[in-house]
Amino acid sequence: MSVLTRCFTGKLSAVPHTEMLRSLLLLLLCQLSTYMPADAGAVCGRPPLTNDMDPAGFQRVYEVGQEIFLSCKPGYTPSKGSRRVVCTASGKWTNPTLKCEPKSCSVPERLQHGDVELTDITFRSIINYTCHDGYVQHGANTSECLADGTWSEPPPFCEPVTCGLPEIPKHGKIIYSKPFQSNTTVFGDSVTYECMPPFALLGNARGSCTASGNWTETPECHLVTCPVPPSLENGFISFSIMKEHGYKERVKYGCNIDYVLDGPTEIECEKTGKWSPLPICKAPCRIGIHRGRIFYDRRKIWIEDLKPNKILHGERLAVYCKNAEKNCGYPVPMQCIDGTAAIPECYEEPSAIQYNLHHKKLPSEIKMCT
Ligand SMILES: *[C@@H]1O[C@H](CO)[C@@H](O)[C@H](O)[C@H]1NC(C)=O
Ligand SMILES: *[C@@H]1O[C@H](CO)[C@@H](O)[C@H](O)[C@H]1NC(C)=O
Ligand SMILES: *[C@@H]1O[C@H](CO)[C@@H](O)[C@H](O)[C@H]1NC(C)=O
Ligand SMILES: *[C@@H]1O[C@H](CO)[C@@H](O)[C@H](O)[C@H]1NC(C)=O
Repeated sequence: MSVLTRCFTGKLSAVPHTEMLRSLLLLLLCQLSTYMPADAGAVCGRPPLTNDMDPAGFQRVYEVGQEIFLSCKPGYTPSKGSRRVVCTASGKWTNPTLKCEPKSCSVPERLQHGDVELTDITFRSIINYTCHDGYVQHGANTSECLADGTWSEPPPFCEPVTCGLPEIPKHGKIIYSKPFQSNTTVFGDSVTYECMPPFALLGNARGSCTASGNWTETPECHLVTCPVPPSLENGFISFSIMKEHGYKERVKYGCNIDYVLDGPTEIECEKTGKWSPLPICKAPCRIGIHRGRIFYDRRKIWIEDLKPNKILHGERLAVYCKNAEKNCGYPVPMQCIDGTAAIPECYEEPSAIQYNLHHKKLPSEIKMCT
């Protein structure tokens, strides 16, 4: 229980000229109070509020023992603690434990052909909407999270830029990658251009509807001619008239007898006005062995039985070498490459005597190495 002391100081009306009276009258009257009840005179003021609490609806004064309920500001929700505070006998409120936190809006959906920029989705947060290049934005650029937990604006719509129909090049045509529904095309649509031979396409064969709403540059079709087709060494033009040819025209070639054609049998007039590369006629080979046995065309024959002495470009045969240590023979392959058939280094040409009288001892006739 507390003891309260009340002191009243008063100044009674002074009587002039009387010194004693004055001192008496100036006497301080002090009154010691009796014990008083605790609540007498103690009151609480406005409750202590944090920034996120609702300040509306409070009285200026509350009596001891009164309780009130705090609430969060619009846009905030109680997250923990008690809303209740009580006015205590000391005239102070009990410590508020209420905690308010900002409300959250829903996570915004992804924007088709656009981006949603955000750092937060709580009350008062602002998100940004943008459409990708080639798309026009219909609707809001920004949206704010409101006190009721909803977004201020619905998401915008990103509509593709439209282009007209692409221009058809003169002497050419357009190949559509998909059928266009109407007379409009949209950003990203693409086509392929082709020219009618002998016109050749110069420029980009592919075109597309751009973000600026026009088509990429239409290529041009140019008349292309190639000179009289070239002659082929050891070969001939098998089907052609000796004249200039147009783009994409073809000429066929063949090789003289025993020559092997290496490369394409036809050449084509290219868009550069030049012919595609010519084939080559590859020469046959003479086998430079005078005495000995060969393995050719699945048969083991004496060289003089190869009539005529010649194999074609690319063909193979084998000669026989000797393993002196083991005294056995083994075949070594050789190949005709455009007129040259290199004889393996291990091959030894026998002398006429060895060949004619002792041919049983030649590497091709003794036992084969395993
Ligand atoms: C939204 O755009 C503004 C202006 O460009 C920028 O200042 C802000 O940071 C952006 N907001 C977000 C969440 O990216
Ligand atoms: C959105 O931003 C664009 C470009 O910054 C501007 O031209 C347009 O007026 C804005 N739209 C709205 C609804 O604010
Ligand atoms: C496309 O354009 C042509 C000529 O301008 C017109 O005759 C035709 O009706 C149009 N088609 C559509 C589907 O708009
Ligand atoms: C398409 O339009 C843009 C902007 O108007 C322009 O800069 C560009 O040169 C145009 N492209 C073509 C191929 O016409």
